[in-house]
Amino acid sequence: MKHLLDPMDISVEEIDELLDLAGDIIKEPTKYQEVCRHKKLATLFFEPSTRTRLSFEAAMHELGGDVIGFAGADNSSASKGESVADTVRTVECYADIIAMRHPKEGAAMVASQNVQIPIINAGDGGHQHPTQTLTDLLTIRSLKGRLDNLTIGMCGDLKFGRTVHSLIRALSRYENIKFVLISPKELKVPRYVKEDVLKNNKNVTYVQYERLEEIISELDILYMTRVQRERFFNEEDYVRLRDSYILDTEKMKRAKEDMIVMHPLPRVNEISVEVDKDPRAAYFRQALFGKYVRMALIMTMLEVNA
Ligand code: NCD
Repeated sequence: MKHLLDPMDISVEEIDELLDLAGDIIKEPTKYQEVCRHKKLATLFFEPSTRTRLSFEAAMHELGGDVIGFAGADNSSASKGESVADTVRTVECYADIIAMRHPKEGAAMVASQNVQIPIINAGDGGHQHPTQTLTDLLTIRSLKGRLDNLTIGMCGDLKFGRTVHSLIRALSRYENIKFVLISPKELKVPRYVKEDVLKNNKNVTYVQYERLEEIISELDILYMTRVQRERFFNEEDYVRLRDSYILDTEKMKRAKEDMIVMHPLPRVNEISVEVDKDPRAAYFRQALFGKYVRMALIMTMLEVNA
């Protein structure tokens, strides 16, 4: 794996190795605290981020490495009209690995075609977000004990939500996965996800619903998502659709006792804060798993060992 642009860039075996390494880091963090000494990670975030950027940076610090970068296109020469290709060719002079987020689909791929150092796609528009997927897989494997034989409900903005697109792609390689896709008509998963991944796949089945309460009782995992305001063409549509789903304690009463609730965060209104106290709410634990899996990923891509 030279670059990580799409979840399919990593094989199922490589995912197992990464998750095992993340598990070992959780168990014995001190073993890893010097492994990236004198290595530099550049975080190039042309779009807002809290968890992804800070967990990448915390990950590199905990490996003993250094971090450079910018948060927000306004703070970089992109605001002067510099291309992504020129930006990464420059950053390559200063860093060993790049994690990049950009509002345009395919931006990370363009970056990867212009440099020799590894590029990690930390989100490209409404397209893919493979490191959130690694976070999600580590969370599921740690809390449910398996990555196969799962009924997973994905609820909210399935059209623009890149975390959903990436997680569906990654999970479609495990056995007996049932996707329950819950969204308003306007925010269904894009056709390319359906055609490429969901149709004619012996491992997966999928059903589509509009109401969460109809189906919540059958889920092993409920993956909630935010309506992606920044990707809408007009504010009116966003306002009409933003509160389509609100998970509250009433709805949680219908769910299995061992169902887990995941969310890539940030949350807006789609999970009421009262649900945070429910032991099934896993989203803040998920954010912590994100740091460990990014530590494992940085080590793997830089080819360093403990
Ligand atoms: C997600 C993203 O940026 O796609 N956030 C994240 O990385 N944890 C989800 C979102 O913004 O809704």
